[in-house]
Amino acid sequence: MKMQVNELYKNRFDKNPDKIYFSPGRVNIIGGHTDYNGGAVLPFCINLGIYAAASPRNDNQVNIYSDNLPKKGIISFKLDNLKYHEQRGFANYASGLFNELKVRGHKLKKGFNLAMVGNLPRGGGLSSSAALLLLISNVINDFNNLGLTGTEMALISKNVENNYIGVNCGIMDQFIIANGKTKKAIYLESNTLEYEYIPCEMNSHKFVLVNSNVTRKLTESKYNVRYSETQEVLKILQEHVSIHHICDLKPEDYYKYEKYIHLTYLKRRFKHLVDEHARVKQAANALKSRDFVLLGNLLSLAHESARDLYEISSDKLDDLVLIAMKSGSLGSKMIGGGFGGSTLNLVKTDDLESFMTNFTKMYFEKYKTKPIINTVEVTSGTGEIQWLN
Ligand code: GLA
Repeated sequence: MKMQVNELYKNRFDKNPDKIYFSPGRVNIIGGHTDYNGGAVLPFCINLGIYAAASPRNDNQVNIYSDNLPKKGIISFKLDNLKYHEQRGFANYASGLFNELKVRGHKLKKGFNLAMVGNLPRGGGLSSSAALLLLISNVINDFNNLGLTGTEMALISKNVENNYIGVNCGIMDQFIIANGKTKKAIYLESNTLEYEYIPCEMNSHKFVLVNSNVTRKLTESKYNVRYSETQEVLKILQEHVSIHHICDLKPEDYYKYEKYIHLTYLKRRFKHLVDEHARVKQAANALKSRDFVLLGNLLSLAHESARDLYEISSDKLDDLVLIAMKSGSLGSKMIGGGFGGSTLNLVKTDDLESFMTNFTKMYFEKYKTKPIINTVEVTSGTGEIQWLN
């Protein structure tokens, strides 16, 4: 794909690009919806993502071409017109970043040409939007010598999602895609941004993704509804206990405070969050000590909680989890925002072949088509790719 993107650029812009980048997607092992509630998460970067070739320009124009959406052609805008425009499509992520940098006092006068091609399924729950944001952040940062750190770029990108695109997401996706390292997951406390790299050498076991092929856009899904619900829970709790976030509380605190929450579906959101936050630490320890049986159990518990308490799963996702467990997975769960996207499965390497065979057979019996299964590697975050590596 690296060669492909170079050719793509030459084809569109009649020149060689200055730089080639790769921006990965991410998987969150565990920590569903905890990140906008001050909780912990345990994500890693995957070897599926977006490749881009880019060069700076001497004027204030930005030209972006995506080979995944060829019908859109080259999308262009100028740096003196940074308002959100529906018809600008995915290039709004770029105008949003320039806009955010302008708000922060950066005077950026020069645009860029960029051609990209990716193998991340959009709406697959693998954070194609954060991959795109970090890709463009890196391009702007490099071409303008802004000297921003990965974490700064992650925070800027999150603001673009929250205030420009309109998704009230947390920091997990942007943080891991900015800071991810090969063969490492990150244990991140989203309220303090304290983090630890956790070795994630997947030799004896593999992470396998199954795409439900049900795409959903976070702006249209119930993601923002869950955000508002948890804000409501927090407000009620704050009348009785001094906390900044729901995840400041422990699982046992649920039994102390649930009586103040009258709506039962809000009680469920509360319970999911305090339990899930605690599970993330247990999962990080399980990964560290390579206790994959425990890790698998935690994944399955996280799925049950996402399904029954946070209510962000779907029939198809539940089905994929069930089939995976019957096929020999040690644990299976939905990932990402929910309501569609992918499941993550932990499989013993020795059982991988039989897992694939069994899964494909059972899936085919039910859906009359082959499943979309990918074994993923744990890779590093967004950056320039050198020609010689
Ligand atoms: C999306 C959001 C993240 C996080 C997950 C759910 O990926 O972008 O911030 O909330 O959903 O864990």
